Amino acid sequence: MIGVRIVDFPKILDERGSLSVIENGSLLPFDIAACAWVYDLRDGEEWTGRRLSDSDELVVALSGGFDVIVEDGSEQETYHLNRPYRALYVPEGVGWRIAGFSTNSVVLILSAGEMKSGAMHNPDSDFYKNQVVGLNNVKYAQGKVTIVNGCNDIPFDIKRAYYLYDVPADESRGSHAHKELRQLVIAVSGSFHVTLDDGMEKHTYTLSRPGEALRVTPGMWRTLDGFSSGAVCLVLASDVYTAEDYIRDYDEFLEFKKLK
Ligand code: TYD
Repeated sequence: MIGVRIVDFPKILDERGSLSVIENGSLLPFDIAACAWVYDLRDGEEWTGRRLSDSDELVVALSGGFDVIVEDGSEQETYHLNRPYRALYVPEGVGWRIAGFSTNSVVLILSAGEMKSGAMHNPDSDFYKNQVVGLNNVKYAQGKVTIVNGCNDIPFDIKRAYYLYDVPADESRGSHAHKELRQLVIAVSGSFHVTLDDGMEKHTYTLSRPGEALRVTPGMWRTLDGFSSGAVCLVLASDVYTAEDYIRDYDEFLEFKKLK
């Protein structure tokens, strides 16, 4: 079918688990305008794509597995997704639906266009504070969906989505700070802890709900640990990956914060 294709994104694997990245300007055939994840899908139901947007979309199995049935009016094809680094690109105009999902399925949808959330729009004036916030959550008969429109539901464009998965229970991730990057961190499956340290005070947040996110402002030393089995940590970021934006040395971090 014209345009529909599987796209494999990087899987960066080490002893601390797996990380996959989807970002503007690399492999992704469009720029991200909005992002949604569908979860708590009810057995025997189907999820109809195009409910949220009519634009180019990318569909990913962040957890579990399911069939994506695509149809363009003359042809129908079925793709099975069950790996977080393997996505299905569905161009504008091609219909799609999900069927046969496993019980723990989480569907990530990235879209080139704005997504209809139906929820009250809440421009976020206080984004410069690290805290856990509720997102636009919509409940359907088939399951739940959380929607984040870049530059609309949050005060930055989503230029990158990356996610951590298969993290061993005794491993920790992070241990670095960013100079400019702003992020939303979401437990789309399972749970984990995020400790934020501004150089003077530390606070630990436990994330366990797909409908809420921890906002992480620039200049925060972060550590993630206590991953439950099957946990998936989704991060929506204000920029593509650059090694220059990282501070990986704690003393350098304190100097950056002018605390040393
Ligand atoms: P890192 O950010 O250190 O992981 P974590 O904070 O989860 O412990 O990234 C691990 C490796 O992956 C590192 O070599 C950089 C690379 N990476 C990318 O290439 N792109 C990305 O978007 C991210 C987040 C990491």
